[in-house]
Amino acid sequence: MSEKIYLYPVWIRIWHWINALLFLLLIVTGLSMQYSSPNYTMIRFDIAVSFHNVTGFILIFNYIFFIIANWKSRNFRYYKCHVLGCSTRLQKQFRYYLYGIFKNEKAPFPISEDRKFNPLQKLSYLIAMYLLMPVMIITGLALIVPEVNIHNVFGISGIHLTDLLHITSGFVLSVFMIVHIYFCTIGKTATSNFKSMIDGWH
Ligand code: HEM
Repeated sequence: MSEKIYLYPVWIRIWHWINALLFLLLIVTGLSMQYSSPNYTMIRFDIAVSFHNVTGFILIFNYIFFIIANWKSRNFRYYKCHVLGCSTRLQKQFRYYLYGIFKNEKAPFPISEDRKFNPLQKLSYLIAMYLLMPVMIITGLALIVPEVNIHNVFGISGIHLTDLLHITSGFVLSVFMIVHIYFCTIGKTATSNFKSMIDGWH
């Protein structure tokens, strides 16, 4: 028997799809800037910079909205990781993805009203939303206002380090997005999780 649970309220869905769209735009404009050369540009450099900056600012407002709404609503409870037994839970979920799922075993942490995410989802969402996003946002802002960067860090240009952190966090988040989309296809059917993020019901 399968029971319908309302897991994704409207605010999460609106935040999520705006975030996903902005992310794609940031990747395209970011890559275009990264690999631009006088001979070839995917998007004209100055246009890519302006577009990247404006999109980045909208992403920041959307992110602040997520942090406040996630904290004010009870949704943050789904992100809380308990350290005790964490490694065992992660291993169980890993084992399921590597082996159990192909043997038609039951999921070790089935979704319920009290548990929206399995331990691996929880950890990856926590790292993406509360570590990588702030790093990417803060370094992005620091690149817009270069004066705020430390000039020299042990002989290395501060702005280069900020840039490196920005690109690395952006890259890891892009990889997260690809892996995230892949894991979203592992639902009841390949599209059921995507439908849930559209109508709110699991
Ligand atoms: C085209 C790109 C994307 C697609 C198709 C997509 C798809 C989905 C789907 C189907 C879910 C619901 C299943 C689940 O809970 O795991 C979900 C949840 C989630 N996604 Fe994405 N996603 C995309 C991009 C992103 C990006 C770029 C981020 C963050 C940087 C992100 C962060 C999240 C988070 C935090 C949740 C859980 C939200 C909550 O219920 O609290 N997603 N995504």
